[in-house]
Amino acid sequence: MPPRAQITGWGKYLPSRTVTNDELAQALDTSDEWIRQRTGIRERRLARPAEGAAEMAVHAAREALRKAMIDPGEIGLVIVATSTADQVFPSVASIVQYAIGANRAGAFDLSAACSGFVYALSLASDAISAGSIRAALVIGAEKMSGVVDWGDRNTCVLFGDGAGAIILQAGDPKAGLLASVLGSDGSDGEALVLRSRPGEGAAGQGPVIAMDGRRVFRFASRIMASSLREVTSKLGLAVSDLSLVIPHQANQRIMDAACEELGYPPDRVYSNLERYGNTSAASVPIALCEAADEGRLRDGELVALVAFGGGLSWGAAIVRWGRTIRPPWHVAVRGRGRQLWAAILWQWRRLLRLASSRRRRPS
Ligand code: UT7
Repeated sequence: MPPRAQITGWGKYLPSRTVTNDELAQALDTSDEWIRQRTGIRERRLARPAEGAAEMAVHAAREALRKAMIDPGEIGLVIVATSTADQVFPSVASIVQYAIGANRAGAFDLSAACSGFVYALSLASDAISAGSIRAALVIGAEKMSGVVDWGDRNTCVLFGDGAGAIILQAGDPKAGLLASVLGSDGSDGEALVLRSRPGEGAAGQGPVIAMDGRRVFRFASRIMASSLREVTSKLGLAVSDLSLVIPHQANQRIMDAACEELGYPPDRVYSNLERYGNTSAASVPIALCEAADEGRLRDGELVALVAFGGGLSWGAAIVRWGRTIRPPWHVAVRGRGRQLWAAILWQWRRLLRLASSRRRRPS
C-alpha cells in the first residue's frame, strides 16, 4: 500500500487589528446590518502596513511545525497558496522555507485564488503517496487588505487578512487524505478578477479585486454542493457520511444554500466567517486549525474541505482525521532546535536588511 498523507500539525496567524462593520460604515455607505444579513460577517482582521503574506505565513508555519513535532529538515516541499504575495519572486514559499530552516525542501507559490489551499493540499498529498517526498508544509496566506478598493462597498467589506498552515507526513493508510477533486471553468473567469486597473498600476495603485457578486454567489452555491457530491462518490460514500465540512469562508448564505441543496445539517458545517471575513486561500486552513483546536475533529471521522473562487476554480478533499506518526523524543527536540536557530538567523537577516535600506535612503 502506498503511504497516505496525514495531517500531523496545524497553525494559524491572524493579525491583531480587528475592524468591525460599524468602523467600516463610518467611512463607507454601508451598515453593520447589511453586512451581517447579506454575508454573516461581523468583523475582520487587517495586517499592519509592513506585515505581508510572507510574515503571516511564517507565523502559521512555525505553529504547525511545533504541533507536528517534526524536524524542518524532513520537509520535502513547501507550497504556499496565495494571490497577494509581496513580490513575484522570491516566492512566499522560499521565504518561509528559509525562515523555518527547511533546508532540504523545494518551495513554490501556487495561484488558484480562494481554491489555492485545497489545490496545494491535493498536490502535496500526491507527492507523498507517490513516494517523492515524506513530508510537506502547505500554507494559505493572504493580505487581502492590500488588493481591495477601500472605496468599493461591493467588495471591501468582504475580505480580511491571515494565514493557515498544515504539515503533511507519510503515514499508514488508516488516516489522511483519501480523495480530492479539482476543477476550473475559465469561461466564467471575468466574474472575479484581480488585476491592475488599466493605466493606474503604473501610478502605484497596484492590483485591485473586481467581482460580479451575484454571478459568483450562484456559482459558489452550486459548486460547493456538486464538488462535495463528486468527492464523496469517488469513495463510494454519501455527503451524509461526512462528520464535518470545512468550506471556504465567503458568505454564510453560500454555505446555507449548499446545505439545503444537499440536505446536509448546517451545524456540521464549520464557520468562523463572522470573525475573519473572507481570507481567500487562507480561509480553509484557518478554519481547519480552529476546528481541530476546538476538538471538532475526532480520530477516525471523515472531514471534507471545499473551496471555490477566482478562475473560476474549485476543489474538494476528504480527510480521515487522525495521525499514526509520532516522532521519537530526540527527533522532536532536534526539530525544535533547528527551528529556533532558523528563527534567530531570519531575524538577524531582517535587521541587517533594514539597517542597509536605512543607510541607502537619501536624507
Ligand atoms: O472568495 C471568492 C468568492 N466570493 C464569493 O463567494 C462572493 C459571492 N457573492 C456574495 O457573497 C454576494 O453576492 C455579495 C455579498 C457580494 C453581495 O450580496 P448580494 O445579496 O448578492 O447583493 P447584490 O450584489 O445583489 O446587491 C444588492 C444591493 C445593491 O443595491 P441596489 O442596486 O439593489 O440598489 C448593492 O449596491 O446591495 C447594495 N450593496 C450594499 N449595500 C450596503 C452592495 N454592497 C453593499 C454594502 N452595503 N456593503
